[in-house]
Amino acid sequence: MVSGLEGNTRLKRFVIAVGGGKGGTGKSLLSANLGIALAELRQHVIVIDLDLGGANLHTCLGIRSPKATLGDFLNKKVGKIEKILLPTPIPRLKLINGSNDPLEIANLPYAQKIRLIKQFKNLQADFIILDLGGGTTLNVLDFFLTADYGIIVAIPEPTSMENASLFIKCFMMRHLKRLLKQFPIENIQDRIKDPGNRDSVRTFRDLLRLIRSFDKAGARKIETKLEYFKFGLIMNKLREHSEAQIGNSYQSMIRRCLGIQMDYLGPITHDEKIPSSVKKFQPLLVGHPHARASHAIRLIAKRILGMDQLVSPLHEGASLYTQQKTKKSRPEILHDINKKKSV
Ligand SMILES: Nc1ncnc2c1ncn2[C@@H]1O[C@H](COP(=O)(O)OP(=O)(O)O)[C@@H](O)[C@H]1O
Ligand SMILES: [Mg+2]
Repeated sequence: MVSGLEGNTRLKRFVIAVGGGKGGTGKSLLSANLGIALAELRQHVIVIDLDLGGANLHTCLGIRSPKATLGDFLNKKVGKIEKILLPTPIPRLKLINGSNDPLEIANLPYAQKIRLIKQFKNLQADFIILDLGGGTTLNVLDFFLTADYGIIVAIPEPTSMENASLFIKCFMMRHLKRLLKQFPIENIQDRIKDPGNRDSVRTFRDLLRLIRSFDKAGARKIETKLEYFKFGLIMNKLREHSEAQIGNSYQSMIRRCLGIQMDYLGPITHDEKIPSSVKKFQPLLVGHPHARASHAIRLIAKRILGMDQLVSPLHEGASLYTQQKTKKSRPEILHDINKKKSV
C-alpha cells in the first residue's frame, strides 16, 4: 500500500503508457527516470513494468532483485495489485516489478489481462507509468489503450520510426475495434467485407470514411473518442546537431499520413553516462543529475505536469474494458486491413 494515501481523492491517478513498437529505444530508461522526475516535483508516482518477458525497469531504478513481482498477482498469490507495490530509494516513487518467469506470463490470458487493467485505476498515486515492451501484440496495444496519455519513444533510425508508425496504426485499429463495441454500427462487418467497399479501404482514414458513409452520427461519436486519446513523442538517443529537427519532422509526418497530432515532448541526447549508470545500478537522475539527458527528462516531466489533460482526461482508458460485450461485435476485418496498409 502507498501508506497514508488510501482514498485520497486529490490524487490525480493519471495513467501514462510508454511504448513505441521497438525494443532498445529507451522506454524503460525513460519510464524510470520520468517517474523520478515527477516524484522530485512532489508527485506520488507508481511505475509498472509491463514488459512481459523482458522486465528490467527495476534495474533502471537501481533495484537488484525485487521481492514481489507481477507474477504474484497474475498467478493469484495475492488478490490486490497494491500488495505487490514495492518502495524504491526515491521518496514518493513506488514500483510494480514485472515478471520474467515464462510460466507466469506466457500468453497472458484475456481474463488475467482484464483483471490487471481494472486494477490500474484503483492505485493510489498522482501518476501511474506503464513501461511496455516492444512489438504490437494485443497485450501491448491494450495496455497502451488503458492509459490517459500515450508516450511513443523512438530513436533517429528508420527502423525505429517505421516501428513507431506501425505501432500507432495498430493502436488506432485496436482502439477503433473497442469503440465499435461501444458504438456498434449496423452490419459493419458485412459492409466492410462487401467487395464493392473492401477494395477501397487501404488505410485507417479510408475505414473511417467508409464508416461515415454508413452512419454519419455513429462515425462522429467514434471519431470524437479517437481524438480524445493523446499521444506524446520523445526522440531519444540523438547524437548530432543535425538530428535536432528529426522529432519535429516525424511529428509532421504522422500528422500528414495518419491525421494524428502528437505533442513533441522533447529530444533526449545520446549519453554514454546512461548505459554506465544502468550498469552501476544507479538511476540516471540520481547518479548524473546534471547530465543533459537528465535535464531533458526533467523538462519532459514539467511539460506533462502542465498538460490540460491532467485536469480533465477525456479518454476513457480502462473503462473501455469494462463495457458489456455486444453480440455482433467481432470486427476481425480490422486486422486484415491493418496488414494491408502502409504509411
Ligand atoms: N539517451 C540515451 N543515451 C545512451 N544510451 C541510452 C539512452 N537511452 C537509453 N539508453 C540505453 O539503451 C539501452 C536500451 O534502453 P531501454 O530503456 O532498456 O530500452 P527499451 O525499454 O525501449 O527496450 C539501455 O542500455 C540504455 O541504457
Ligand atoms: Mg524496456
